[in-house]
Amino acid sequence: MKNRPTLFRASILHFTSSTIEPDNHASYYHDGALVVEDSHIVALGEYQDIHVQYSQSKVQDYRGRLIIPGLIDSHLHFPQTEMIAKYGQQLLAWLENYTFPTENKFVDRRYCEYIAQTFIRELVSNGTTTAFAYATAHKQSVDALFSVASQYNMAMITGKVCMDRHCPDYLQDSPQSAQEDSHALIEKWHGSGRNLYALTPRFAPTSSPQQLALLGELAKQYPSVFVQTHLSENQGEIEWVKDLFPQHKTYLDVYDHYNMVHSRSLFGHCLHLHDHEWERLAEAKANAIFCPSSNLFLGSGLFSLQQASKYKVNVALATDVGAGTSFNMLNTYGEAYKIGQLQQFPLSALHGLYMMTQGPASAYGLDQDIGNLNPGSYADFVVLNPQFDALSKLRCESLLDQDITTEKSREQKSMIGADILFALSFIGDDRAVEATYIAGKELKQTLQEQVYAMA
Ligand code: GUN
Ligand code: ZN
Repeated sequence: MKNRPTLFRASILHFTSSTIEPDNHASYYHDGALVVEDSHIVALGEYQDIHVQYSQSKVQDYRGRLIIPGLIDSHLHFPQTEMIAKYGQQLLAWLENYTFPTENKFVDRRYCEYIAQTFIRELVSNGTTTAFAYATAHKQSVDALFSVASQYNMAMITGKVCMDRHCPDYLQDSPQSAQEDSHALIEKWHGSGRNLYALTPRFAPTSSPQQLALLGELAKQYPSVFVQTHLSENQGEIEWVKDLFPQHKTYLDVYDHYNMVHSRSLFGHCLHLHDHEWERLAEAKANAIFCPSSNLFLGSGLFSLQQASKYKVNVALATDVGAGTSFNMLNTYGEAYKIGQLQQFPLSALHGLYMMTQGPASAYGLDQDIGNLNPGSYADFVVLNPQFDALSKLRCESLLDQDITTEKSREQKSMIGADILFALSFIGDDRAVEATYIAGKELKQTLQEQVYAMA
């Protein structure tokens, strides 16, 4: 039997569909109502239009708060949770000295489970409800993350990192073992509950042509499976790819040759691309993933929003933890904004929100389920409290208190939501996330209580 629906009363901001102009297409309800039945959204609108029809519902009164869709982090590394902020090196030395030794710990199944729990708690406490996460070379790291995500009915996308060269022996697989392990994991997890699989060659330097060929075969065999990898992050890396794959015109061409450039491909970084690489990404409807805090931390470079927009390439935002320095997607947008400022390309808060919700959801073909608050989607959403501390109270107090009259234009109204998001991206942190709902269940509190119970 179905449970009684719950009506959430709050200000509500989201995008109903894909758009190339997020600034003009946000939907905002100042005094809104979101109705949830079991795991899904059943209604959304102005409170005054909705509440009569749902007069039998439970009411959760979040007035003074802003509800947005659950956030999508399009690129991060779950085993790197513990190694955020390792000092002072650029990509290749950082991998060698910090990353590979840390990932070696995941040979231990119990450790995989412990970090998977911690990782998901960090995501949820920052309002992230879906993540494209790299696991490690070990199959059990994938099992652990999918298992924990399944406990919470969370939409998780991960995959075994494939590397058969230029890495320590302890992480090295082979073309055949990577293919067999990835295949077995796809069969076990892809489409089971809300889990989806991503083939995960770490990056071109750590995969032989034979390994890329076998993974490309799997990509062909399973078109609904994602591909995630790194592209054009660091100058040393790019020179290395040129030496290793002299027959290919560009870095992207290496992946393209092996059938890995399509609409379900997510390329982390894309900082130093040639024009024809941008063109090819656009033509294939592939996705460039902008990881601002990581790009600054490793000194990798500045993502060009201008080039992405000129070539109409899909761009999604991501933390790239552990080179990224925070799990918080709003703070990550704040870093993206600063990078845009350096290039005279201001990135609005609405555009930022789009790049962590409806934008990636529709680009990846997942927007029937996530990325928005449309009836029919999963009830994955975040409740932001713009007055979570004294400073944000001072900054945001007047915004939600405004008396909104119907004469105000839609853009003027959605600017209230946008102003709050913008402020929280700089002066906010996980304390501004009052609650995170996944498939209709509040999880932030639940996961915090588990920590207190363990202490
Ligand atoms: N390139 C290959 N592996 C990695 C990684 O773990 N992090 C980052 N930022 N770049 C990479
Ligand atoms: Zn990465």
